[in-house]
Amino acid sequence: MEADEVGLAGRYIVVKALEDGVQIMGLTRGRDTRSHHSEKLDRGEVMVAQFTDLTAAMKIRGRAQVMTDVGSVQSGD
Ligand code: TRP
Repeated sequence: MEADEVGLAGRYIVVKALEDGVQIMGLTRGRDTRSHHSEKLDRGEVMVAQFTDLTAAMKIRGRAQVMTDVGSVQSGD
């Protein structure tokens, strides 16, 4: 079964960088977990990112505000 058929994919998160050089990494879905994409944001930049069949998790390095459908959290404190 595809990830989107079970409601795991398709959701978005919003990441707002609170400092320069915040890194967002997309981690693969499935048995192995590896970084398949990485983006750098400078302070004030916002990225809207989506979970897909390829992306099951995201890792954020640095000070950022992360907004999801289960709430908001600040990273990097
Ligand atoms: N490859 C893992 C998976 O599809 C990716 C993953 C999803 C993950 N959620 C996670 C890795 C939580 C670490 C922690 O399940």
